[in-house]
Amino acid sequence: MGMATDHEDRRFATKAVHSGMIDVEGSATTPIFRTSTYRLTDEKYQGWAEGLHHTVVYSRISSINSEVVSAKLAALEDTEDAEVFSSGMAAISTTLMSFLSKGDHVVATPDCYGGTYGLLTEILPRMGIEVTMADVRDPSSYEAAIQENTKILYTETMTNPTLKICDLGAIAEIARENGLISIVDNTFASPWSCNPVKMGFDIVLHSGTKYLGGHADLTAGFAAGRKDLIAQIFHNKIYLGGAADPEMCYLLERGMRTLHARMPIHASNSAEIAKRLQSHDMVEKVIHTSLESHPDYDIAQRVMPNGSGMLAFVIKGGDNSALKFMRALNTIFEATSLGGVESLVECPFNSSHMFVPESVRHEAGVVPGFVRMSIGIEDVDDLWADMFQALDKASEALKAKA
Ligand SMILES: Cc1ncc(COP(=O)(O)O)c(C=O)c1O
Repeated sequence: MGMATDHEDRRFATKAVHSGMIDVEGSATTPIFRTSTYRLTDEKYQGWAEGLHHTVVYSRISSINSEVVSAKLAALEDTEDAEVFSSGMAAISTTLMSFLSKGDHVVATPDCYGGTYGLLTEILPRMGIEVTMADVRDPSSYEAAIQENTKILYTETMTNPTLKICDLGAIAEIARENGLISIVDNTFASPWSCNPVKMGFDIVLHSGTKYLGGHADLTAGFAAGRKDLIAQIFHNKIYLGGAADPEMCYLLERGMRTLHARMPIHASNSAEIAKRLQSHDMVEKVIHTSLESHPDYDIAQRVMPNGSGMLAFVIKGGDNSALKFMRALNTIFEATSLGGVESLVECPFNSSHMFVPESVRHEAGVVPGFVRMSIGIEDVDDLWADMFQALDKASEALKAKA
């Protein structure tokens, strides 16, 4: 079985629906191949000898269903190849381990997902790999941090949770000029909004748990990029074991088929909520890429012009007020994830970023009262009504305290 390379002549929506799919007896969807192993043949031995990639032999390595979603992601990101994992963190850790050895150095950003921050600051240093943190908004700070032993420049398209936008073209250029591997986590933008490899990045990563899955019913991850780079990641995945289960891949394929249909609603709902929040007196600051007040507004229009459903705001009264607001919501759900059809809300300080030191969080902009929202595809007026009454309750509690 080979990776489908049918994506060049199709548009995004068609690729989302059709790319990668394997029909059996004319089935309209890829069936679940519920098997842990596959009969070995001369052809498979040959594939094995050549490095196994895209030769399906054992489901801890890859499966028919994992091949299907990998091909679909490669089509959506417009990359030569892709590999799926059991989670976003499995994709990130396997990718970094694939290119780093003791004594190497990485330039990254503290403005990143909390799990990634932990990997960069706890696990890599323990393995003798140095990490320097640079400013995601200032490509020259990445350049200044490069050392003799630097191997990788690492960033996020839109950072978690402060929604800063990285000038991907500038970072990719610095990596190219210095012979480094550029890696970007594109989870918050999704391939619908941004294709970092087209801007010169070598490897794009995703938590498939979010927009790609889209229904809060699975965990998954992806690495995509040039064939030789993905082959190296695949080789390491065999030993590290973060393979994606066939049943999960079935759900992921189903989710990815509607990515282009869901994302415009996420983007327009969140832009509308951002606009309404701006004029509420309980709100100190709103962060959304559709607002000209976003510090990276111009870069965002270039890097991820379609936007996404991610929104953040700072509520008056600090974290107590934020908690009051969240707990007063009825439709919107307090949970630490994003990208599903349902709207979710969290405070990074006690969830996604609780293990990031407070000083690092504050420096990044996660100030007291910071609320992160993943706006879903419900009716926007219902969402606003829910938020409005919860803001009222937080306001009453603040007045009672004064
Ligand atoms: C930007 C980003 N990258 C990676 C991850 C990790 O993904 P997963 O939870 O699927 O391991 C997350 C999780 O929230 C995330 O927000």
